[in-house]
Amino acid sequence: MIQFFSVALRNMKTVGTVCPSSPMLSRALAEVVDAAPQPRRILEVGPGTGPVTRELLRRLGPRDVLDIVELSPEFCDDLERKVLGPWRGQGHGAQVTLHNAAIQDVALEEASYDCVVCGLPFNNFEVELVRSIMDRMLELLKPGGELTYFGYVGAKVAKRAVSAGSGRDNIDAIEQLERDLHLAHAGTRRMVLANIPPAFVRRLRKP
Ligand SMILES: C[S@@+](CC[C@H](N)C(=O)[O-])C[C@H]1O[C@@H](n2cnc3c(N)ncnc32)[C@H](O)[C@@H]1O
Repeated sequence: MIQFFSVALRNMKTVGTVCPSSPMLSRALAEVVDAAPQPRRILEVGPGTGPVTRELLRRLGPRDVLDIVELSPEFCDDLERKVLGPWRGQGHGAQVTLHNAAIQDVALEEASYDCVVCGLPFNNFEVELVRSIMDRMLELLKPGGELTYFGYVGAKVAKRAVSAGSGRDNIDAIEQLERDLHLAHAGTRRMVLANIPPAFVRRLRKP
């Protein structure tokens, strides 16, 4: 928690919060993999210190593959030391790989994942970056695969209240993009109250 707080304060734009996701929110995100038949190929984007990763590891079968992409070298070190190292030590068969990179830049095979679980703070990004990351994650999914991500309840209202003109336009454009994606990908949305702050978990299915 202290590690997360300290990295978050120095990288507010890319981390977007000072609290890792609660167990309830982490579970609500990881549940997306339950519906996919094994063996599964799963991609996690933006694990931070790993609350969602832990939930994913718990669900992995021996022939599953989990690729994890995290921008921050400090979070990668932390994740390797406290989460992935101990998990590997228990001798599970699944293949888990951590990539210290931005999801926009990392080389991964297109249309190869059953599920993508994303923890990025989209409301902090320019809409062009949100669009390119969303396009990239959808491109990486197999047809019929699912992408899940979250956003904090009230975050857009709060951002609009403290932003000047172009900041407000950016939030409006992100909201419109999310609406379009929701319609084009049979989107669902559910609220998780047990998180600080409460969050919406969204799911999109690639046609
Ligand atoms: C809101 S934190 C989420 C952390 C964790 N998933 C959780 O739920 O507590 C966002 C994470 O995304 C990472 N991140 C931001 N931009 C990224 C990018 N373009 N590619 C990969 N990771 C990124 C940040 O370093 C941070 O660890």
